[in-house]
Amino acid sequence: MNFADSEIVNSIMTKRGMDPVKSPEDAAVIFINTCSIRDNAEQKVWNRLNYFRKLKQQRKGKLVVGVLGCMAERLRERFLEKEKLVDLVVGPDAYRDIPHLLSEVEDGRKAVNVILSQEETYADITPVRTTGNGVTAFVSVMRGCDNMCSFCVVPFTRGRERSRPVESVLDEFKLLSDQGYREVTLLGQNVNSYNHEGRDFAELMYRCSQIDSEMRIRFSTSHPKDFPDEFLHVMREQHNVCNYIHIPIQSGNNEILERMRRTYTREAYLELIQKMREMIPGVSLSTDIIAGFCGETEEQHRDTLDVMRTVQYDLAYMFAYSERERTLAHRKFMDDIPEETKKRRLAEIIQLQQEIAGKRNRMEIGKRHIVLVEGTSKRSEVQLSGRSDTNKMVIFNKGNYGPGEYVEVEITDCTSATLKGTVLRSVRLSDTIAELVTA
Ligand code: 5AD
Ligand code: SF4
Repeated sequence: MNFADSEIVNSIMTKRGMDPVKSPEDAAVIFINTCSIRDNAEQKVWNRLNYFRKLKQQRKGKLVVGVLGCMAERLRERFLEKEKLVDLVVGPDAYRDIPHLLSEVEDGRKAVNVILSQEETYADITPVRTTGNGVTAFVSVMRGCDNMCSFCVVPFTRGRERSRPVESVLDEFKLLSDQGYREVTLLGQNVNSYNHEGRDFAELMYRCSQIDSEMRIRFSTSHPKDFPDEFLHVMREQHNVCNYIHIPIQSGNNEILERMRRTYTREAYLELIQKMREMIPGVSLSTDIIAGFCGETEEQHRDTLDVMRTVQYDLAYMFAYSERERTLAHRKFMDDIPEETKKRRLAEIIQLQQEIAGKRNRMEIGKRHIVLVEGTSKRSEVQLSGRSDTNKMVIFNKGNYGPGEYVEVEITDCTSATLKGTVLRSVRLSDTIAELVTA
């Protein structure tokens, strides 16, 4: 989401006549787009700001530093109190105001806008894309979150849910298709809650899938409460909607889920997973898990490990609970699990997930996947990397293939994080059949 937001800010700045530079040392203005989700995300920003403070001193103050995003929203006063650290504080709904705020800074004032909006979606701003190699792109379709999970600061920093008009998403999609992009990830804090004047995410996804049969579509991130059958049908029926679902569970224990205000039980979640697997054969699943939430007992922690064994996720993002001010958990529950215990539980969760991912990847050996080539492998100049429909990273020898091409790859080897394979041929996505993936 922050990458996508930075691309919007990039567009706003470019319109103001400023061009991006490669390193902060060459910049006249530096913006740091921030995340508040856990304390360690914020610590990284403070460290970075300390470095920028040194740059400011070297330039005798002739460098403008701005904090954007969730931390700006959450800690506005704190940034302004710290003398000479930042000049601009801009919340996630105020990016349009940046040119005006910059003029205030030029007039010698500190500038702040952290007003949250019920409407802002930046629908009319075409992002200047800096990620994705001209092959993959993010399209933000909704912003904010109304779910109020008790551990989460997002509803406070990003405000209420609001969705972009279907047509504006489709227009951006068409533009990307014309520009030769091959994969779009529809983005939102709660993307499957998308709803614009009664048109829901299933409809949006269907309409997007019809634009370009060579364009793959992914989506992130979703909440288990919003997976109607119609949406799963679209996923099953449309060959270009990827068979991959990120479906955060957070905990495998009902009491903890209730305390987290997740609005589902372990049983209901598992039923949904089963339905997904039945309706979308070969679907790959990933999740988010929090270790050591308020009051979590060893037994409740073991329920999380147990549910991981049951579901067999392909991928998981795993975190130690980090208390956030203003959240319900902060107001109502004690953050009573010692740091060491949280770390140990997290380590157990990570260890188990590595075993599961390793096992699932080994099951891929001998199978064939359609891979969209994204670029040269990080590890080797003579190899390419790309992702399968099921979102697995696949590495293979370059041959005559290049970014933006779909290739059929036979998997020959793996680690717990990547698959390795041999290219059999170049293909068109629209000519491939789902069976190929699960063959
Ligand atoms: N502590 C730890 N993890 C958190 N997440 C959200 N809030 C917190 C928190 N306070 C995790 C959740 C969410 C992901 C984006 O970040 O797992 O799904
Ligand atoms: Fe946070 Fe829950 Fe909203 Fe996700 S669904 S952003 S975890 S409040």
